[in-house]
Amino acid sequence: MSQVVEKAIARPVTPLGILAKQLETILQTFNQQTSNELAANLVLAWRLAAGLDPYLEEHTTHESPALAALAQKTAHEAWGQKFHQGATVRELEQEMLSGHIEGQTLKMFIYMTKAKKVLEVGMFTGYSALAMAEALPPDGELVACEVDPYAAEFAQTAFKESPHGSKIRVELGAAIETLEKLAAAGETFDFVFIDADKREYVQYFQILLDKDLLVPGGFICVDNTLLQGQVYLPSENRTPNGEAIAQFNRIVAADSRVEQVLLPLRDGLTIIRRLPEQ
Ligand SMILES: C[S@@+](CC[C@H](N)C(=O)[O-])C[C@H]1O[C@@H](n2cnc3c(N)ncnc32)[C@H](O)[C@@H]1O
Repeated sequence: MSQVVEKAIARPVTPLGILAKQLETILQTFNQQTSNELAANLVLAWRLAAGLDPYLEEHTTHESPALAALAQKTAHEAWGQKFHQGATVRELEQEMLSGHIEGQTLKMFIYMTKAKKVLEVGMFTGYSALAMAEALPPDGELVACEVDPYAAEFAQTAFKESPHGSKIRVELGAAIETLEKLAAAGETFDFVFIDADKREYVQYFQILLDKDLLVPGGFICVDNTLLQGQVYLPSENRTPNGEAIAQFNRIVAADSRVEQVLLPLRDGLTIIRRLPEQ
């Protein structure tokens, strides 16, 4: 049974969101009498940073009612309370959900690539899976990997509320084992979205290519490849996840089987294309 609580205020988890919060804090503690010009410049810097995400939201196609309901239900769930009790301690939080802008971006990528078979590694409550499924043709399929049974059930309940939910097949279990299983069964994918354990990203990437799970000419989208700016901030400030993503970015950049671009969308979204001749 899900516990309904007051919606927690989401903390910033992107480089831009963290920058806006930093500037807001500086402004709040700033002694304006020191320099009016400095104060005005700080206000402008804060407005530039804090205004971008709301502007993007406003000028992006609205999410479907099913996606909006799923985002709201996820935000109202008591993740911390639930998963830090008992023997199973899982680190699930509402901030994991990719959300409106990224969901719509992924949806556009599915339309643009005309992908029919999609793989998601790291489903959580199913927001990005459902967004991509909405762009799939009626005979398209999305396989979503998730290790957490509660998150998987939460997602599957939401999928039943959408006419596109039947295109999604959930694979419950550790992602690496699931990828090996899918490869052994001879499954292949046109488009993959990686968004699970940051410390395993390199393995997901290598299995997808080594085992031909990704078709030649296919695409991989990878989330959190800026990891809150840690990948370009001084390395002594990196968490283990930050170090893992920095290493992932280096490995992808050096792999001659692919070409890629790292976009500063939310927490960083890398688009990787497997070269057709590989
Ligand atoms: C950032 S969330 C995914 C968010 C989702 N893609 C969305 O946009 O709403 C990461 C998810 O990956 C799952 N996960 C973490 N490690 C995993 C693993 N080794 N295998 C499968 N899933 C894993 C977590 O339980 C969590 O639900």
